[in-house]
Parts: sequence; C-alpha cells; structure tokens
Amino acid sequence: MTKTSSFSAPKGVPDYVPPGSAEFVAVRDGLLNAARLAGYGHIELPIFEDTELFARGVGESTDVVSKEMFTFSDRSERSVTLRPEGTAGVMRAVIEHGLDRGQLPVKLSYAGPFFRYERPQKGRYRQLQQVGVEAIGVDDPALDAEVIAVADAGFRSLGLTGFRLEITSLGDDTCRPQYRERLQEFLFGLDLDAETRRRAEINPLRVLDDKRPEIREMTDDAPLMLDHLSESAKNHFDRVLGHLDGLGVRYVLNPRMVRGLDYYTKTTFEFVHDGLGAQSGIGGGGRYDGLMAELGGQALSGIGFGLGVDRTVLALAAEGVGVGDPARCEVFGVPLGDAAKQRMVVLAGELRAAGISVDLVYGERGVKGAMKAADRSGARYTLILGDRDLTEQTIGLKDMRTGDQRQIPLAEIVTTLSGRP
Ligand code: HAM
Repeated sequence: MTKTSSFSAPKGVPDYVPPGSAEFVAVRDGLLNAARLAGYGHIELPIFEDTELFARGVGESTDVVSKEMFTFSDRSERSVTLRPEGTAGVMRAVIEHGLDRGQLPVKLSYAGPFFRYERPQKGRYRQLQQVGVEAIGVDDPALDAEVIAVADAGFRSLGLTGFRLEITSLGDDTCRPQYRERLQEFLFGLDLDAETRRRAEINPLRVLDDKRPEIREMTDDAPLMLDHLSESAKNHFDRVLGHLDGLGVRYVLNPRMVRGLDYYTKTTFEFVHDGLGAQSGIGGGGRYDGLMAELGGQALSGIGFGLGVDRTVLALAAEGVGVGDPARCEVFGVPLGDAAKQRMVVLAGELRAAGISVDLVYGERGVKGAMKAADRSGARYTLILGDRDLTEQTIGLKDMRTGDQRQIPLAEIVTTLSGRP
C-alpha cells in the first residue's frame, strides 16, 4: 500500500468546521423544531441496512438504486448498503418494532447523513445531510397538509424566504396505470431520440420533466396526471390544497414534477430555491401508500418529507441570512503563574458545574498573549488570577464590553457570575 503524506475528505463529502459548523447545527435543529411542535418523536436508525430493503423500498429502476448506492459485502458476505434515504429504514423499523399496531398515525422524525454516489457539484454531495419526518397509518388529507406545513415552517423559522413549494398528485392504483398507458401512447407518437424513447418505456413521467426546450415543446400537449386523477385521488388532493389554504401555506401546482424515488402516490411536493443553480431542490416528499406492504408490513399509508440540510445552509448563504452562534464561552480564565493555574482549573470546574461556560488560556502565553486570547475568545468576562490575588484570596473580573475591572473575593466569584446576564 502506498503511503500518503496527507489526507483529504472523500470526494464529494463536505466537512463542516467552526465557525460555519454552528450554522449547520442551527439549520439541522431549526428545521425540525416545527416537527417537535406537531408531536413527531425522534427515531434513530442504522446508517447501513440490508441492500434488499432499499432495492425494494426505493425501486430497482430509480437512479438512486441502479447507479448511486454505496453497496458492499460485510465480512460475512452479506450485502449491505449505506442508506441513500430515510423512508425505507423508518418503515422497516416501524414494522420490526410493531409501532404500526399502536396509536395511529405513527409520527416520527430523524436527522443524519445519507449516501448517494452522485457526480459531486455545488449542493450535490455523496454524503448528504437530511432531516425528515414520516407520518404513518392514516390516509387523511389533513395529515398531508400538516407534513407540508411543518416543512414550510421549518424553512421559514430559519429566515429563509426565496423558495417556493411545488405540489402535485401522482394519483393512485386506480388511475395511475391507465394514465401511464395514455402518456406512453402520446410519447411513442413523437419523434424522440433513442435514449428518450427508452426512458418513455421505463418511466414515461421522467420525459415530462426533461428540461431540453425541444422536448418541452413536443410534450407541451402531453396528458397530465392531474387531469386524469380518479374521483377519490382528486378529492384527496383538493382537500389537501384546501387545508394548505387554511394554513396560509402558499404553493404552486407543478403537474410535471418527477421525484427520484419510486414509492410516491397521490400528494407529492418539492421545495425549490432559486438561488442555488442546478441543485435547487431544498426538500421534497409525498405519500407512499404502498410502501409498507411492499416491505412486508400491513397495508398502511404514509406521508413524509426529507429536507436537505446542506442545501438549506447554501440557500441561507445565498440570501445573506446568518443563523447560529459560533461556540463562545461567557467567561475566559487567565491564570498568571503555576499556583494560579492550579486554582483556575478548579474554579473553571466549579463555574461549569454552576452552568457557566468557561474557557481558559492554555500553554505559556505571557500576560499580553493571554489577554489577546481572552479578547479573541469573544467571552463577555475575563477572570485574571495572579500570585498576589491568591494571597489576598481575590480575583480580577474584567467586563470585556466596558473594559471595567474589579477585584472580587475568590469565595464569591461563582455566585457573582451566576447572577450576571
Ligand atoms: P429526496 O428528494 O431524494 O427525498 O431528498 C430530499 C432532499 O435531500 C432533497 O430535496 C435535497 O435537498 C437533499 N438531497 C438529496 N440528494 C442530495 C445530494 N446528493 N446532495 C445534497 N443534498 C441532497 C428523499 O430522500 C425522501 N426519503 C423524502 C421523503 C420522506 N419522502 C417521503 N418521506
């Protein structure tokens, strides 16, 4: 094996380091706040699972499964895959733990890394971070609206505004097969290149999403699923839109929407941001009424979303919105000399036990260097402890905002600082 003198992160995998990492954490946690307010409980899932779960759950014909999975054999020659998305794993866990036999809907949320072997570019990574929710077991348009409103509120709570919600219905078992045939009939009547014709055979809906102007023009009059919904799918969709109107969630219909995962039925949606270039989808989701049965569970319906944390961080930057405070302690300790260092280490422990965040100067810095470190730390207060202070049992407390410095009895410093803003 050749030795490398230095390492870098794997291709297409972003690192988040301070101070930017504070923004990442604020986005990840902020996006799920709205879910907490709607009663979604946390689920923590394996990063890798049986390959078959994703092949069956996400769909063999999707790009995600056919081209993008990180699949390998473990030491017992079992085929495992780094999770490319969250929904299939949630279903597996719900079935395995019998959550579907309790109170319905089962409402769950999750956050973490997912893996897709895509060609890396801005906003498209091989390790991507998502937060998601799934609401399983009740086929109620009000639940669709709740899920969508929770995602919308998550983005808005961060201060993001330059996005739109696109929504459509992909129909159900009673109308989709006929529509698919009708669309294929239309597409086969066009003068399509071989590659596009092949796509029309495998997944005709994807041809409607083709961005090339000549294909756009040819498919202008193509039949759309929204115009061919069954009575019950149409009724469901109309009620979802009615609830969204009631909630004040704005949306635009996009009857040509195509999602990259096979399990969607009925309500399907995407959040699109205009400041991101090609990778503009900051979140997406929808109903997946056949998925649980497909994975060996009961025939229960479900709906959920996945929001891209990485892309939301980029979208906020594109809008010039800052979120999250970089890690910063309230108090910074400057001990001058060995004995003072020993006392300061103990004092830092006491202050932290009292809930006050403290950092110290480490190493041999000298007074000037230590005060510079205090300044740079951004702490509100600096504690300065020298040999003479130790003899007198006092400590210097400097307010870094005003520059005022006072001597406080050492025995009182924890209570003094506890009472301060
Ligand atoms: P998805 O649309 O494949 O849905 O992914 C959701 C979001 O993850 C996307 O909108 C995008 O923001 C982000 N994302 C996806 N791939 C990448 C990538 N390579 N780099 C950066 N960000 C990416 C799902 O995964 C479904 N499981 C969502 C869902 C839950 N549907 C129902 N329940």
